[in-house]
Amino acid sequence: MAKLLIEGGNRLRGKVNISGFKNAALAIIPATILTGSVCVVENLPVIQDVIVYQDILKKLGGEASLSDSGTMVIDTSKIQACNLPNGLTKKLRASYYLLGAGLGRFKEVTISYPGGCDIGLRPIDQHVKGLEALGAVFEVNDGLIKVSAEKLIGNKIYLDVVSVGATINIMMAAVFAEGKTVIENAAKEPHVVDTANFLNAMGANIRGAGTDVIRITGVQELHGGTYSVIPDQVEAGTYMIASAVTKGDLIINNIIPKHLEPVTAKLKEMGMSIEEYGDSLRVHYEKELVPVNIKTLPYPGFPTDLQQPMTVLLSTVKGESIVIESIFENRFRYIEELHKMGANIKVEGRVAAISGIEKLKSAEVKATDLRAGAALVVACLAAEGVSTVHDIYHIDRGYEFIENKFMNLGAKIRRVEDDEENSAEMIR
Ligand code: EPZ
Repeated sequence: MAKLLIEGGNRLRGKVNISGFKNAALAIIPATILTGSVCVVENLPVIQDVIVYQDILKKLGGEASLSDSGTMVIDTSKIQACNLPNGLTKKLRASYYLLGAGLGRFKEVTISYPGGCDIGLRPIDQHVKGLEALGAVFEVNDGLIKVSAEKLIGNKIYLDVVSVGATINIMMAAVFAEGKTVIENAAKEPHVVDTANFLNAMGANIRGAGTDVIRITGVQELHGGTYSVIPDQVEAGTYMIASAVTKGDLIINNIIPKHLEPVTAKLKEMGMSIEEYGDSLRVHYEKELVPVNIKTLPYPGFPTDLQQPMTVLLSTVKGESIVIESIFENRFRYIEELHKMGANIKVEGRVAAISGIEKLKSAEVKATDLRAGAALVVACLAAEGVSTVHDIYHIDRGYEFIENKFMNLGAKIRRVEDDEENSAEMIR
């Protein structure tokens, strides 16, 4: 297994290009199943989760080839059924999209229970509620989910919790449902909009994505085509926060600044200078930062996926901050690792009370999940001395070329195998 060696304390400077959005990619790739045709999906991040989805399509009988530059040519015309009981779906959370896409096209799906980051219970009751309202029948036994429908008929669905996954899954199944489907209290995240835009580009009739009411009118068929995925606002936010924590000066390129407003607003409130230029942002440190309070919320609130790097930043800012995690009940596990680096954070339930310290110190830490892993990298970039981040396979699921991108910004960071000697010299 690989690990990252990081010598912290360098100000990051320069330009970084943001990759395509993982969470949009992981919805759009399965959505191609609905088209039963050839789709060219561009601007995909070349990350482990995308590669796993490529394998899933192939296992189902489709064709999928991914270029180094992130273009996947997908042909789903030969897929005859959506049955994958062999556990491949446990490798990632977004395999739940096979339920909506497979049901839409084949009216029947069997998959093993989805996996993904261990950040809470992550029930799928809202997915089930929505798909049942369209006429589906579920059977869950021994970790297998079977869902089928004689036919899908449009309906009005009110989501009890704002769920990205449930919104997208229902939207996918409803593409071929007879008549109109209305999703109320829908998620408004940019990847919901991107998936709707992809499906509309292939012939679907989805209106209102990006608001809390989405209306889908069923169509008879979709066609193939070319589509480019939006930039990854979570990756972009991670680099923005890395600029703040290292007192740096970064230009973040290939982004949609609107998607980053919750992060931009908080960093500005803390005292960072941020300038916007069309599809890029300059994020630079000019003066001592002040503490702020954060509560994670569905979009356009502060994203739960950036709670972890933001907590790292606040742990280095003099004064008291409060972070409330309101989306996932178990997303503070990485704080134990931050304690090893000297952070002064007390966690009680979903609340983290932070007392900022002057400087984090180097340590051996372990990524507990994807975003926690990225946050620990950010912490190590700020810490004095050489740190090691273990279990970086979590990070590889979602961040493209993370060490190369940070290296180009002046960071001292190197990927080594676990059995290689752990030496500060290796990263100089
Ligand atoms: C998506 O997860 C993302 N994953 C997550 O990113 C992201 O943190 C999350 O949305 C919130 O933005 C993917 O897109 C693959 P939800 P998802 O359904 O769809 C509760 C990352 O690191 N809920 O919006 O699983 C749920 O427990 C990952 O990139 C129900 O109660 O999130 C949570 O508290 C981690 N019942 C809240 O809703 C349901 O049926 C929001 O979950 C569904 C969800």
